[in-house]
Parts: sequence; C-alpha cells; structure tokens
Amino acid sequence: MAIERGVITKHPTDMSDAVFQRLSTTVKRPDILADMRTISRNTFGFLVRYVHMVRYYLWIAEQLEDLKPGARILDLGAGLCPVPLWLASRGHRLDCIDNHPIVRTLPPQPDWNIWGFFDYSQVHNDITSIRRGIEDCHGENLYDIAYSIGVLQSMPRSQWEACLYVTKQSLKPGGRLLLCVDIIPGTDFVWNYDGEVEPLSEHRTFRELETCLSVLGYLVEQSSLMRDQNDSLTDPLYIACRV
Ligand SMILES: C[S@@+](CC[C@H](N)C(=O)[O-])C[C@H]1O[C@@H](n2cnc3c(N)ncnc32)[C@H](O)[C@@H]1O
Repeated sequence: MAIERGVITKHPTDMSDAVFQRLSTTVKRPDILADMRTISRNTFGFLVRYVHMVRYYLWIAEQLEDLKPGARILDLGAGLCPVPLWLASRGHRLDCIDNHPIVRTLPPQPDWNIWGFFDYSQVHNDITSIRRGIEDCHGENLYDIAYSIGVLQSMPRSQWEACLYVTKQSLKPGGRLLLCVDIIPGTDFVWNYDGEVEPLSEHRTFRELETCLSVLGYLVEQSSLMRDQNDSLTDPLYIACRV
C-alpha cells in the first residue's frame, strides 16, 4: 500500500500471500478468512501477519456467526482489527473500547499495526469507538456479547481483574464473554512481553484467569489451550463464558 519511488509495495505488517494461502488450507472457514483479509486491507492497509491473531479473529467470527442481527456487542481493546467491521456488516451494533495514546487517522500509514485507537465510526455507522480504559467503562446490562482479542496479557493482573469485573456488570443476563489470550509456549503463564508487563509470578497463569472468571460469577463453558502451534509465537487460549 505504501508508495516508494513510484512502486507500490506491500504494507510491512501485512500477512504474506504464501502464509495466507497456507493458513487458508488449515482453517474451517476459508471464506470468512478471505472476508477478514478484504475488510482489514481495505480499512487499515494490512491483515496482521501473525497467524495466531488471525486464528483468533476466525474463532470469534465462528462463535458469533449465528447471532441474530441487532445484537449489542462490546469489543475490549479493539485496536485495528477487522472483527468489529465484520460483525457490523452482519447487522450488529458495536462499542469498541481502546485507550491507546496513538490515534490512527485515515488514510492508512506504513507504520500502522494492530495497536492504537481507531475511530470505527469513520467507516461504519453502527460502530461507536470509545477512547477509555476498559476498567473505566461502567455500564449495566447493556451488551449481549463482549469479546477481547489479544489484550488481557498486555495489562497487569490487577487491571485484567478489574476489566473482567466491569465487563460482567455491562453484560445482560445470559450474555457471553469470549476471550483470546496469549500463553507463553509450553507453560501455563500468561504472556507478559518478556517481563515488560510485570514478573510472571505476578502476571500468573491461565488457570488463575479461569479461577478469577469463576469467582466473578462467569460460567466458563469452554477453555481451550492450543499447544505446539508451529505457526504461532504463543500458545493461544480460547475462553467462552456466560453470565
Ligand atoms: C495487541 S492489540 C490487539 C488489538 C485488537 N484486539 C486485535 O485483535 O487486533 C491490544 C490493544 O488493546 C488496547 N488496550 C490494552 N489495555 C487496554 C485497556 N486497559 N483499556 C483499553 N484498551 C486497552 C491497546 O491500546 C491495543 O490497541
């Protein structure tokens, strides 16, 4: 998408065609994968090159594919992601929360990645973007669904606990929370960006995340940790809960 000396080059963050083709042959829904790539490239200039992130996008899409149009959905830590746009195209209304200090203003730039505050209302009328910490968003019984992709591991444990608490309040009775969380490969520890977030002993394990969800009153219906993913930097964890 960038233009250098008159030559159009690929966005540095974009997934290569070879990786995309390989991924297409391993996923249940290559049609949704193709739609995600189109939406993401058209909006942000790239589909993120990290395979595990794109698998997260597909899992959320598959979980919500049969949702009746008109649902109210909360994206926690939306960054720059095709999922809110894919859901809005299916007739749902979304609130996207992100408190990143960098605001990504269109048109797409070569230094963009999945991190940042993007105002989705610029590209879809049914999405509202809120620039605030998840932990500071207090709503009651507003949403049918809340989801978070690749976000919880980037904050200290005390903060992700606060986020899960306020999210529970903002879900309607019977509402669902879907979480995609990175785990350090071969361990139970939540990814901590090599100590940048906090020491592992404080950041804790996915088992403590599951316990925290139960203590807060979520019913954990699925918790799947995928090991030995040769195309992923992390061991991806998928959690689905109900309130
Ligand atoms: C790795 S990016 C993931 C973006 C997007 N969910 C995706 O899947 O492509 C993490 C995003 O979470 C946001 N974030 C982290 N902590 C947050 C918090 N406490 N409140 C709101 N947003 C937060 C960051 O600003 C960043 O944009």
